[in-house]
Amino acid sequence: MSGFFSSLFKKEVSVLGVDIGSSAIKIVQIKKKRGKAVLETYGELTLGPYGGIEVGRSVALPQEKQIEAIKDILREAKTTTLQCGASLPLTSSLITFITIPPVPEKQIGDVVMIEARKYIPVPLDEVFLDYSIIPREEAFSADGNEEKKTSENQEILVVAIHNQYLNEYQSIMTGSALEPVFYEIEIFSAIRAVADHGIATVMLIDMGARATKLYIVERGVLRASHIINKGSQDITLALSKALSISPESAESLKRTKGLKGGPEYRELTEIITVNLDYIFYEANATLLNYQKKYEKNVGRVFLTGGGVLLKGFIDLAKISFQTDVAYADPFSKLETPAFLGEELAAAGPEFAVAIGAALRCLAEANQ
Ligand SMILES: Nc1ncnc2c1ncn2[C@@H]1O[C@H](COP(=O)(O)OP(=O)(O)OP(=O)(O)O)[C@@H](O)[C@H]1O
Ligand SMILES: [Mg+2]
Repeated sequence: MSGFFSSLFKKEVSVLGVDIGSSAIKIVQIKKKRGKAVLETYGELTLGPYGGIEVGRSVALPQEKQIEAIKDILREAKTTTLQCGASLPLTSSLITFITIPPVPEKQIGDVVMIEARKYIPVPLDEVFLDYSIIPREEAFSADGNEEKKTSENQEILVVAIHNQYLNEYQSIMTGSALEPVFYEIEIFSAIRAVADHGIATVMLIDMGARATKLYIVERGVLRASHIINKGSQDITLALSKALSISPESAESLKRTKGLKGGPEYRELTEIITVNLDYIFYEANATLLNYQKKYEKNVGRVFLTGGGVLLKGFIDLAKISFQTDVAYADPFSKLETPAFLGEELAAAGPEFAVAIGAALRCLAEANQ
């Protein structure tokens, strides 16, 4: 069949992006229509109550509870497909950059396996290993001499996930009747949904419940990552302790007032600020370190994750970073109903990972 007819008759496939965070599941369903990715439905479900704890806290659930939660969110969001892209948490994986000597492309896989042994602290047969080649700064030198460049060392990004973790994750997917087309670390989903492929170097901050993750991205490619073991739930717990209120009340105060409570909420503002300052200090150190090492300017910081939705977060971030700061708007990569505009822009930072996974799934389904 000619290209024209095959595309005319191609079934419009719907796909899901699934992000199982430590405190909440996020899902997005999209399909391709007239060459564009169209939003069909999306939803979020907090996991705390499935483990008998408060909303907003990270929780380790047994498999059957995770399956129950996934089934619930699929039902609530009225999804109509099971084909999905699934994002795995960064904390379940080990990401490392290695440098290998120049070898023909066919041999890169073998060389990576040998080199990776030096960096990965467990036997390689216990992990699922993946790698990607970091594109060189310029494929060709100014005089068009490719030889010169390919004789240089090659940087490789290596990702390892423990087989046991992957197996457990797979059984949760199967138990929920989902059909994952691929698994990828949440970093790569978020980058796809947020960073464009422009030449500017950007930093993504993902403030979740349990941790805050930092990614530095150049030309759409991950160049560095860092985990700060402090997330939005730590603000809730600090508030609960300092103000002698229940974690539920602390969570609700955090969400309703944030940093915008005014003079009446001076203590609240102070506690949140102390916690965020710690995160911004670490993030700035990562950013400055990168800038110094590679002599590159990080031109923009994108905010993702539920924690950045805190009122006044972006104002404090703008003061802390000597660079442009913006909320991620991953729904802008999709065609969406106009009447949902404001709601989607506000929820965008939380859905970056799920949207990124869905976008890859759609691209693969339409190949
Ligand atoms: N409007 C809001 N104001 C302040 N905090 C918020 C708001 N909405 C959500 N949060 C916080 O964001 C956190 C959840 O964010 P997110 O869903 O990105 O986390 P997660 O993906 O489950 O966690 P992780 O990525 O660490 O595994 C919770 O701790 C919650 O309290
Ligand atoms: Mg998350």
